Amino acid sequence: MRLRPFMDPLPIPKVLKPKERGKNSTYYEVRMVEFFHQFHSQLSPTKVWGYEGQVPGPTIEVEQGETTNVLWINNLPDKHFLPIDRSLHSSGHNMPEVRTVVHLHGAEVEPESDGYPDAWYTNNFQKCGPRFTRKVYTYPNTQRPTALWYHDHALGITRLNVYAGLAGMYIIRSEEERALNLPSGIYEIPLVIQDKTFNEDGSLFYPSTFEVPNPPPDFPNPSITPGFAGDTIIVNGKAWPYLEVEQRKYRFRILNGSNERFYKMRLSSGQQFIQIGSDGGLLERPVRLDEITIAPAERMDVVIDFSNQEPGTSITLTNSARTPFDFGAEPDPSTDGRIMQFRVIPRTSEDTSTVPQFLSRIKRYHECDVKRTRDITIDVGQDEYARPLFMLNNHEFMDGVAEDPVVGELECWRIINTGLGVHPIHLHQIQFQILDRIPIDTAAYTQTGQIRYTGEPESPLPNERGWKDLVQAPPGYITRILVKFGPYTGRYVYHCHILEHEDHDMMRPLDVVKPKCKPEKKLCEE
Ligand code: C2O
Ligand code: CU
Ligand code: CU
Repeated sequence: MRLRPFMDPLPIPKVLKPKERGKNSTYYEVRMVEFFHQFHSQLSPTKVWGYEGQVPGPTIEVEQGETTNVLWINNLPDKHFLPIDRSLHSSGHNMPEVRTVVHLHGAEVEPESDGYPDAWYTNNFQKCGPRFTRKVYTYPNTQRPTALWYHDHALGITRLNVYAGLAGMYIIRSEEERALNLPSGIYEIPLVIQDKTFNEDGSLFYPSTFEVPNPPPDFPNPSITPGFAGDTIIVNGKAWPYLEVEQRKYRFRILNGSNERFYKMRLSSGQQFIQIGSDGGLLERPVRLDEITIAPAERMDVVIDFSNQEPGTSITLTNSARTPFDFGAEPDPSTDGRIMQFRVIPRTSEDTSTVPQFLSRIKRYHECDVKRTRDITIDVGQDEYARPLFMLNNHEFMDGVAEDPVVGELECWRIINTGLGVHPIHLHQIQFQILDRIPIDTAAYTQTGQIRYTGEPESPLPNERGWKDLVQAPPGYITRILVKFGPYTGRYVYHCHILEHEDHDMMRPLDVVKPKCKPEKKLCEE
């Protein structure tokens, strides 16, 4: 069935109320439950999993410096409703089918509250993964104000749990940011963009098979695929919704919560986006862009000014990104080529909000302060069933830790992509800065391991010059980022955020370690 676009109004996820509010802390309880959700008024209700019975989950709003404690409760059934691939690591038959663990993406938190993939647990904490340590997670919210998002991160089934609906937004605010007088209240709107495919009966479709030439007799069924993109674009839980906007400025907190799909967004009115923030908070200055490319898990803080539009005008937010990005199929203008629609109506009051020319100071890292450089190669191999296998530094998740940055020391990570597609690489614990991207001779690199530059370093795009927790690593380039882990030590992960890649071993553990004791120092803690 063809769903009619722009039929349903855009829902705004509810803001979650804390169960308890202390002097400088809040306590929340969030339940993961199975329920039915209507993605479009022409579609029968769809079985989903969501936080607090909502898809996307309720927005959690906190004040900078307030400590948030959250009990994330798994009240899900014992059986998954999406196809589980038992051949993946930690998804074997000895593992409970339904396991969850919540990660607050982009948050600076201690490892015990970061949602390590092996810290999963089942319904009512009956069974726990090897790295499970605590039920209540603590978020200090000491970082810069920004939009984060919480989502499931259980080892081997993250793609299924997130696709089932386990994702929501989390916004940190501050007085300083409020003083900027950006559009706020009902004029500040989160946009969680995802994609789904529906079966005739309204149920969610997720592929269960994958074909390789000459498969071995024990080829897994169900099998993971190298990526999945749905044909229906969902914003805040509705397919191709519309939003009535007054003739004035709006602030949109955009999140790409899709498994694999990138979006190259434009406004059909030809207007520009005014981007004011990236993953880790406000940029130094607003940047005007005709087009924004947003990778899975990236956030973009964007102002759109509708004040010069006539009432009655309809503006489509379009998408021109190929899938897989950026070498696959062109989007279809009637389905994945469009995201949502804005309908301009007259202003109900004067627009007194502003977009200041200076937003926030960003202290730049300098290459000359780098203590250590690490190369992270993106490798394409084959697993034991001849399926494509993406890896980082030719390692699988279960191979031991190879990255052990010292807390507080600046490092340069060089992500070397010799493959075909763009991989969105995400680091836990910190926000980093993008240094540049340098084109290389990939054939020479794969044959000899020698890096031969084929062009000048390319500076990050204007909207990438703020704090980031994810970087788009394009093929044929070395993408260089400057990272400084801290203030916490311990075990985290970094990974590709295409969820089918992440689940199929494009994820690695990482240990943030204390500085080694220098022999000349008398006092030593260890
Ligand atoms: Cu948004 Cu490790 O993930
Ligand atoms: Cu993360
Ligand atoms: Cu990838």
